[in-house]
Amino acid sequence: MMFRVNLAATLVMALGFLGSAQAEESEAQLGRATYARANCVGCHKWHGNGGGGYGGAALSLRKTQLDREQIVKTVTCGRPGTGMPSFLRGVYDDDAKEHPCYDFSQKDLTGDNHVAEAGTFLRPNEIEAVADYVLKNIMGHGDPNLAECVAFFGDTSRVCEIYKPKTSHQMPTPSTQN
Ligand code: HEC
Repeated sequence: MMFRVNLAATLVMALGFLGSAQAEESEAQLGRATYARANCVGCHKWHGNGGGGYGGAALSLRKTQLDREQIVKTVTCGRPGTGMPSFLRGVYDDDAKEHPCYDFSQKDLTGDNHVAEAGTFLRPNEIEAVADYVLKNIMGHGDPNLAECVAFFGDTSRVCEIYKPKTSHQMPTPSTQN
């Protein structure tokens, strides 16, 4: 009887563990998918190092010093006067009850404070997932490498060729027995 109870408890624990591991896995997938779908890649590149994109020079997400809350806010609100767009629909609406982004509403976004709207809006949970993705998979990482590239694009992508070690092409030894 005791044994049965223990077994049941172990099973429940094991299932709980599997469940949370799965939830973490799908959260990570949502983050990566969002990073691609919302076109963070367009400006920050898949590896997050940025470079000159159509939004101006995007800062490196590998070198960023921001914490989770600041990343969530930057993605939600964009950054006035830069190429970083806002990803939450309606955050600057003039008639909204609250103005969570720098206390700005649409009428404040003129001139140097212009904020572009993202081409693809995100839901708050997607913004959190993409922030976690940046924190775990990009921020603080050194130079992009093959394993990361393959994790992003999949095994077969030619984009990742440049990260493969160069193989020296050895000439076949000439045969003397022809
Ligand atoms: C249209 C181009 C563009 C897109 C799309 C874009 N960004 Fe940006 N992002 C920028 C630029 C430009 C900056 C630099 C802003 C500045 O100079 O302060 C920036 C800055 C940031 C920063 C602040 C970094 C720091 O250290 O201050 C974060 C975080 C960020 N982007 C995350 C994202 C994420 C996540 C996505 C996708 C959901 C995304 N960006 C999509 C252009 C873009």
